Amino acid sequence: MYKNIEILAKNAGEMMLEAFGRIGSIHEKTSNSDIVTEYDIKIQDYLTKELSKLYPDADFLGEEGDSKRDPDEILRGRAFIIDPIDGTTNFVRNLRTSAVSIALAENGEVIYGCCYIPYNDELFTAEKGKGAFLNGIPVKCSDTPIEHSLASVGTTPYNKEVYSEPTFGIIRILFEKSMDIRRFGSAVIDILNVACGRSDIFCELRLSPWDHAAAGIIASEAGAIVSDMNGNKLRFNGRYSVIAATPRCYDFFMKDADIQKYSKWF
Ligand code: IPD
Ligand code: CA
Repeated sequence: MYKNIEILAKNAGEMMLEAFGRIGSIHEKTSNSDIVTEYDIKIQDYLTKELSKLYPDADFLGEEGDSKRDPDEILRGRAFIIDPIDGTTNFVRNLRTSAVSIALAENGEVIYGCCYIPYNDELFTAEKGKGAFLNGIPVKCSDTPIEHSLASVGTTPYNKEVYSEPTFGIIRILFEKSMDIRRFGSAVIDILNVACGRSDIFCELRLSPWDHAAAGIIASEAGAIVSDMNGNKLRFNGRYSVIAATPRCYDFFMKDADIQKYSKWF
């Protein structure tokens, strides 16, 4: 049903690959950690133009979109939530760990998501209630207990002053209680990794809607629990904390007294 969207995600991924060695100009947005390249803009423009042809009534909430518009208004009705390149710093550094992310929401609820990692030719997709797929093959999250889990944590790099302390506090606890820690630099890939059992728990204290909307539905359709770090349903109208974890690791996170000491930042 959403094949046309998947073709566009793959085309966008091709544009990322073509950028190798000629990324062009890079600009700082809100801080030295928050950057945008010509390709972020080019891909966002491409997706907006082509998706508008397929869904003329849809609105757009995108990382490189008009930040002055009210997200609640955009999300009324049908809207695409887009990250043209999640993991822009990885993209600039040729770390080959970035993804295109497209979610379709209706009345503020995500009903479909697709994410494409061009470096691995991996297309993750999910439609609400119909399971999650990697290149058309069903995927499920793991059933690993916390002591054998691989955990990944995002560092909320655009708000270091506020979130550095709780982020590294949580990393330390997860490091001590899990098998080991990873920091991939793309929240989309972090959440997809939980979806397909490559890792077991991911959290970050603040993410924007385009960082988690598509990967979030893919992970929940794969059997993971995805919510804010207080256990509330994810919202897409601002920046909130996000956890995506297997049921066992999620249960650990919500009950662990050491982690919950940081809950005022959740
Ligand atoms: C960022 C990445 C990163 C996360 C940041 C995000 P961007 O997205 O997902 O892993 O830590 O919070 O903003 O800027 O590369 O699209
Ligand atoms: Ca992003």
